[in-house]
Amino acid sequence: MEYKTFTAKPYGPALGAEILDIDLTRPLSDETTDELKKAFLEFQVLFFRDQEISFDDHARVAEIFGPLGQHVGKKTISQPTDNPAVRRFHADETSKKVSGDVWHSDQSCAEVPPLGSMLYIHTVPPMSGGDTLFASMYAAYEGLSDRMKHYLDGLTALHDGVPIFGEGTPQTEHPIVAEHPETGRKLLFVNVAFTTKIIGLSEPESRAILNFLFEHCAKAEYSIRFRWQPHSIALWDNRCAHHCAIFDYWPHVRSGYRVQIEGTNRPRAPKTALTEQAA
Ligand code: SIN
Repeated sequence: MEYKTFTAKPYGPALGAEILDIDLTRPLSDETTDELKKAFLEFQVLFFRDQEISFDDHARVAEIFGPLGQHVGKKTISQPTDNPAVRRFHADETSKKVSGDVWHSDQSCAEVPPLGSMLYIHTVPPMSGGDTLFASMYAAYEGLSDRMKHYLDGLTALHDGVPIFGEGTPQTEHPIVAEHPETGRKLLFVNVAFTTKIIGLSEPESRAILNFLFEHCAKAEYSIRFRWQPHSIALWDNRCAHHCAIFDYWPHVRSGYRVQIEGTNRPRAPKTALTEQAA
């Protein structure tokens, strides 16, 4: 799609675009916000460079997509700030682990997971390191054989937040194949960080299918690798994209802030003969 108010330069065949000729520190016109919403749905993750944004700018841009939400985790590596909507993502020589260093979609353990997240990194490791991987779960679904798609149709899986975020964090069942609420496209909704069990299968069956799906979702052809520069931003659609932060830069500093956008509904299974029967 052609955009009038900025340039969208595709980042990879499966997902991602760099948005050029835009200044997020200034109020955006209605036409620009409409086009950003379209680009978000088209590319699943948008990247911006050289945007030295304040907390207010950060919130203003993210709110184009919906109200800001709060992290559901009880115990987190990312840190709260004075602003309840903004979390600090900071690693340095004291860090043993970083947030999000395995493939995941944010807080898929929540009943209504976040619609998206917007991460601003102002400080990057010297030379290189600290890239983030993103993968398209539309592409992962489309890459399955028809027999496997048929097998997964109507199955649900448990997404458990307790092992990562501690007692009191949600544990929720979601469909394995979901339908994006805005594009209507089918996607795989399982991830290695949170999905622990396929409902109705024995433990070895569930483990074997989940391991296959986790490996499948991480295939190189469904993913891209984003290299940060100071004051870069990634804004992802958490409903259809996975991401994974690479922690390869210790003891250097990588630092920034993230806000998340509230989801609008529980992940929904597409209407098929099997899901109709179950309803
Ligand atoms: C995350 O949001 O899971 C972390 C992403 C990153 O730090 O690159």
